[in-house]
Amino acid sequence: MVKVTYVQPDGTEVEVEGNEGDSVMATAIANDVDGIVAECGGSMMCATCHCYVNEAWTDRTGERHEGEEDMLECAAAEVRDTSRLSCQIVLTPDLDGLRVQVPEAQV
Ligand code: FES
Repeated sequence: MVKVTYVQPDGTEVEVEGNEGDSVMATAIANDVDGIVAECGGSMMCATCHCYVNEAWTDRTGERHEGEEDMLECAAAEVRDTSRLSCQIVLTPDLDGLRVQVPEAQV
């Protein structure tokens, strides 16, 4: 299991256990985490799974995937250097303890 903490816009933290190989988006949906909408189900067609990766983790989550940058332009909330589509971050043991922030809005 890979522990992921989702920080809500009001600072509330939700810590869940995800499965290796699942995305940060799918883990949020499976655990009813507020603020991750994921309208397209993970096919990188919506940007409603936008999240901000905690800066301590950006090296481990890696670069944005091809096409992710373009899709982020459709994000409802401000796009920052740490912005990612959570459906494109796949949980690995290396990401145990990952922290991501949920943006103010997804639509
Ligand atoms: S779920 Fe639609 S882009 Fe991630």
